Amino acid sequence: MDRHMAEAIGRPDLIRLDDRLVCLRFETMKVVSALAAVRHLLDTGAVRPGDTLVDSSSGIYAYALALACHRHGMRCHIVGSTTVDHTLRTQLAVLGATLEQMEPCADLKLDQKRRVERIHEILAEHPEYHWMRQYHDDIHYLGYRGVADRVREAVGTDGLTVVGGVGSGASTGALARYLRASDPEVELVGVQPYGSVTFGAEHVSDPEIIIAGIGSSIPFGNVSHELYDVLHWVSFDAALSGSVDLLRRHAVFAGLSTGAAYLAARHERDRAPHRTVLFVAADTGHRYVDTVYARHHEARPLAELTPNEAPDRHALTLPWSRMHWNRARGAAAHPS
Ligand SMILES: Cc1ncc(COP(=O)(O)O)c(C=O)c1O
Repeated sequence: MDRHMAEAIGRPDLIRLDDRLVCLRFETMKVVSALAAVRHLLDTGAVRPGDTLVDSSSGIYAYALALACHRHGMRCHIVGSTTVDHTLRTQLAVLGATLEQMEPCADLKLDQKRRVERIHEILAEHPEYHWMRQYHDDIHYLGYRGVADRVREAVGTDGLTVVGGVGSGASTGALARYLRASDPEVELVGVQPYGSVTFGAEHVSDPEIIIAGIGSSIPFGNVSHELYDVLHWVSFDAALSGSVDLLRRHAVFAGLSTGAAYLAARHERDRAPHRTVLFVAADTGHRYVDTVYARHHEARPLAELTPNEAPDRHALTLPWSRMHWNRARGAAAHPS
């Protein structure tokens, strides 16, 4: 029996979609991560019950931190981007978390910069607040250890490839790190939107809207580049096709980063006949009904989509590119 809702929400489902394709499906991914991070801060005495935890978020981390704070009797203050929607705003308010939402800003880089500046102002006014730094503090890896154990037990690591969108890098990085502790041959495939600096694709932009939660316009300390074997860059249109196919074919209703990961995972499955591919579904489809699912008639059959095999980052092209990363260090470390 769970002792708090956060424990139930945090536990992912493992769904075998076919003999070599497995979906690791979260209702809201970062709950396990935020719970373990807050627990760790309390255990080490870095914070005390009743303290205020603050961070910036574009969506699911805000909800995860609010739940973790509710569970552990902490206060929660979020500096949210414009992508925090009405449903989340309402939940945060009732959960007791406070939210400052930034003015609409078309420029993602500016939006991220403004949120970080605002956090610094808040910390100057309230030096007793603790800044969680989900993009930089590796305590956000800790909660995925239990998830990796479940994957090891239920799926096994022999010939396993893990595929997932990279935002802060904590989920994919932690899964690979914990799984490789017992089997260094586990492969890791990261999924990115175009325009993201994380793996050096800032020079190619996607004309459609961004894929919430993955990619970045500023470098993040929690991304461990040396863990990734392969990268896929997926456009909004291709991710939409992936999301719609995943619901149609497998009845999994998930978000846009999941559609992108599913597309990449199917490709990795098809090119490696002896491997099992597990992809991460970070959130449900509800937030994406109008922007993605209502446009299902625009989805292209997945058989028509294949990635451009890019030898280096300068060869990346829309709508979908794949590149070997070979566990290189740092975004700039890859030959360019
Ligand atoms: C929808 C969605 N998918 C994927 C991710 C990436 O997860 P991580 O930050 O662990 O790299 C996020 C992160 O915010 C997200 O919101």
